[in-house]
Amino acid sequence: MSKIFVDACFGKETPYTPVWMMRQAGRYLPEYMAVRKEAGNFLNLCHDPKKAAEVTLQPLDIVGVDAAILFSDILVIPDEMGMDLSFIKGEGPKFSDPIREQKELDRLIGGEEAASKLTYVYETIKILREELDKRGDEKALIGFTGAPWTLATYMIEGQGTKTYNICKKMMYSNPELLHNILKKVTEVVKLYLEKQIQAGVDVVQIFDSWAAAIEPGMYDEFSWSYMVEIAEYIKEKYPHIPVIMFPKGIPAFYDKVYGNFDVFGVDWSAKMAYAKEKLGDRYVLQGNMEPCRLYSKEATTKCVEVIQETMQGKRHIFNLGHGILPDVPVENAIHFVNECHRVSGKK
Ligand code: CP3
Repeated sequence: MSKIFVDACFGKETPYTPVWMMRQAGRYLPEYMAVRKEAGNFLNLCHDPKKAAEVTLQPLDIVGVDAAILFSDILVIPDEMGMDLSFIKGEGPKFSDPIREQKELDRLIGGEEAASKLTYVYETIKILREELDKRGDEKALIGFTGAPWTLATYMIEGQGTKTYNICKKMMYSNPELLHNILKKVTEVVKLYLEKQIQAGVDVVQIFDSWAAAIEPGMYDEFSWSYMVEIAEYIKEKYPHIPVIMFPKGIPAFYDKVYGNFDVFGVDWSAKMAYAKEKLGDRYVLQGNMEPCRLYSKEATTKCVEVIQETMQGKRHIFNLGHGILPDVPVENAIHFVNECHRVSGKK
């Protein structure tokens, strides 16, 4: 059975516009918090295929989204390349051994060896594939990766950053080392996505959450070209799998977007009308409600109506313009999904 979400990714006409939310399996759901508590912590949850599959499915049943996104994290990739990942309460992710020199990069494992260590991710996908097939409904399963640049920011800084000063020092004073990091990550990511597809995902998304840290004139060199290389590797071998690109916060680059992929994820810094004008002929657009509108049902309805007015239910997937925050009331998330369905004509 063809899935509405997959059809929409290819720009085909669908009975209504599908919707999902970035970070839809997460802390705003009490059911997620209960499973995370059982697992002990977030990383244990990622490493436990049964529990990871369980939380992946929660938003389908509770919120009514049209696609599930694999529950994992982008940072399991550098972790399995040999970096030591931990999540410290209240501080976010940390690597104790950041990469600042070539010899530190050389110590990391790459390619097939690294990609084949992420077995718990592929196990999670296999469970989900079976479960979704058993349900026989139209919900798709999205696999994902971080873009090499976004992953590199954590690998180099050792943690999240507001200034990116260590990465940028490398970008401007030792670009060769930065490219070597990006190349090594790119090789792992290609195989990682390929293995996700072989395990059963229907769609893949590449998150470049920290795209906006790069000046627009250098974005292609340090990020977009690597994302395109990954997308082209996938599209060549698996043309039936849609690829979604999500470079956050760089509308100044929309004029220069190129590459073989299917869906462009629009974040909330751009107006949908602007994205449509620049990219709508070439790519299906996904997005883009400002996630904080979820605090108000009225503000949500207003925004969904404006987006629908712009996109007219054509070549569009509803989503937030970035991830849902932990203190959003569940009923407001349900309201968002229902409104997307209502305005686009779901019966
Ligand atoms: O979207 C989904 O529901 C699927 C699961 C998913 C998670 N992380 C779960 C998660 C996905 C797709 C990600 C991707 C991710 N992880 C990104 C790119 C997407 C984005 O949001 O821009 C980034 C930059 C990360 C890195 C990361 N992981 C950070 C900065 C944090 C800590 C932030 C915080 O809220 O504490 C995480 C942890 C994380 N990843 C959580 C979840 C549900 C919260 C962990 C918890 O406390 O339970």
